[in-house]
Amino acid sequence: MEVIICPNAQRVGEVAARKAARIAAPIGSKVVLGVATGSSPVQTFAELARLVASGDLDLSEASAFALDEYVGIPEGHPESYHEVIRQTVTEPMGLDPARVHVPNGFADDLQAACQAYEDAIKAVGGVDIQFLGVGTNGHIGFNEPTSSLSSRTRIKTLAAKTLEDNARFFASIDDVPRHCLTQGLGTIMDARNVILVATGANKAHAIAQVIEGPITAMYPGSVLQLHPHATIVVDEEAAAELTLIDYYKATYANLPEWQRLDV
Ligand code: F6R
Repeated sequence: MEVIICPNAQRVGEVAARKAARIAAPIGSKVVLGVATGSSPVQTFAELARLVASGDLDLSEASAFALDEYVGIPEGHPESYHEVIRQTVTEPMGLDPARVHVPNGFADDLQAACQAYEDAIKAVGGVDIQFLGVGTNGHIGFNEPTSSLSSRTRIKTLAAKTLEDNARFFASIDDVPRHCLTQGLGTIMDARNVILVATGANKAHAIAQVIEGPITAMYPGSVLQLHPHATIVVDEEAAAELTLIDYYKATYANLPEWQRLDV
């Protein structure tokens, strides 16, 4: 894993976006993005939109696949991930809405919707760059603790901790949907590159477990230790419980100029 520790959340977004732009350059305008919702990738997506606007990144024919969606919330609902992705990804990055995909949590047949989602990812040749956040319980996507490390897109029940964490987006915790459709850990691991961003002290424990803990379904993000191209970009607060913090900083400080991602 490549671990990059930044002084603040703004820099996390800039570095993650530059890493993505560097990966995307040789792929070209048809790059396939995997996109997360929530607070973590907001700066990264804003920076990607800025790179598109300045002509430094071509997403004119790009596709995007969201990680997950709540079950039972219609597309236009302000907290549906269809809507969040439209506002944070599709519009600011100027993507063609027809190429932006979110699991259909409002489908009559949810299992068929999950299979259709897996098929749609395969049909474009797989995800080139998967952006991820991490839950305070170590989840990626909505793969809650004890998720199968080889799981595919499916229906999951949200953990109590996730309901509590996501209550901030709803009027009350009782309004947070109990179920979701989420790409599985196996689906996420199929992406050719992953970039996970995390900021703030409340992510410090999960980040330490994901990067330095054992690979375990109790911290689903730890499966990324098996990924050949995983980059984790964190701020100082989220890095606080890492034991090899000095090593990660020294590694980044000693990168050759052309590999650095500083603004
Ligand atoms: C979002 C997702 C989740 C979030 C995680 C962190 O699509 O799949 O794994 O990335 O819950 O959420 P934030 O960034 O809001 O702290």
